[in-house]
Amino acid sequence: MDIDSPVLAAAPEETADATPLRRLGVLTAGGDAPGMNAAIRAVVRYATLAGLEVTGFRRGYDGLIRDIAEPLSSRSVANIIQRGGTFLETSRSDEFRTAAGRGLALRNLKRRAIETLIVIGGEGTMKGALQFAEETGFRIQFIPASIDNDIPGSEYAIGFDTAVNTALEAIDRIRDTAFAYERVFCVEVMGRDSGFIALDVAIGVGAAAVVVPEFPPPINEICNRLEESHRRGKRSSIVVVSEGPRTGGVLPIADALTKRLGSQARVVVLGHIQRGGAPTVRDRLLASRLGAAAAQAAIEGAPTSLIGEERGDIIRVPLREASERRRQLNPELVELVHKLST
Ligand code: F6P
Repeated sequence: MDIDSPVLAAAPEETADATPLRRLGVLTAGGDAPGMNAAIRAVVRYATLAGLEVTGFRRGYDGLIRDIAEPLSSRSVANIIQRGGTFLETSRSDEFRTAAGRGLALRNLKRRAIETLIVIGGEGTMKGALQFAEETGFRIQFIPASIDNDIPGSEYAIGFDTAVNTALEAIDRIRDTAFAYERVFCVEVMGRDSGFIALDVAIGVGAAAVVVPEFPPPINEICNRLEESHRRGKRSSIVVVSEGPRTGGVLPIADALTKRLGSQARVVVLGHIQRGGAPTVRDRLLASRLGAAAAQAAIEGAPTSLIGEERGDIIRVPLREASERRRQLNPELVELVHKLST
């Protein structure tokens, strides 16, 4: 995310604030992820129980800039824990990348006397939150939510588990027809810059090969692998391909396989069905825990942080520190896909 240089003077280093918090804002931004509603519900219920007033901003950072806001009570978040998407709606805001846009956002927060903002979103949203917090001194608690699971500082992001299970279920169905018809299917899953979805799905469906942006194998190598396994008697295969920088990266792989194997490799692009649907229990649990922990951090006046999960524990990491970490794909798991497909 390329963001304009700040208009406002850099904020002094943050420490916990002892003044009791009264007003909290919450928004979801970037790509929606199943479980965002469960996180909003947890934030609102935990905070209102502690006597705080909560304001929800609609349509992500754009709603913050345009002041599209409404008060949220325990009742406003009833019956949403099981729903995908986000009832607050979301956007990828170009205006928040500009100093003028962030200036308007700050003005609206101040006018409403909101003291801390809880932001729920992916990596781009996190970068925006960090820049805003650092240039204005405004406190933000950030909750990672992205089906891509590529947010530094947290092992799991809300929505990943649901997306992986959705893709898995779809590919299980494809496998039935692949087996019956003795076909090769190349299935493209989401994950623009990262292969976390592709890798977990590939292991889960017993794929013959996986293609991830972190370690892109030469197409020739995939062809060799499938040709070899078909020589050994395999008649149907699934290749899982991460979408990469743009959708459709699966096509050249399917073309090359068609030429090499002499029968047409079919292509399925799962696309946005991976983003929707009811969150799994794991995502509802994670979202509820992170939402409550973020509200608690806000109540304590904690400095701007990421509220994430590590080895099953809920963690609080300064947002700057979290942003400097890297989420790395485990190359051994890529190897495992290939070893187990022999
Ligand atoms: O939210 C993450 C993600 O679903 C990526 O996996 C995907 O590349 C991208 O968003 C798609 O974005 P959009 O819905 O804006 O096309």
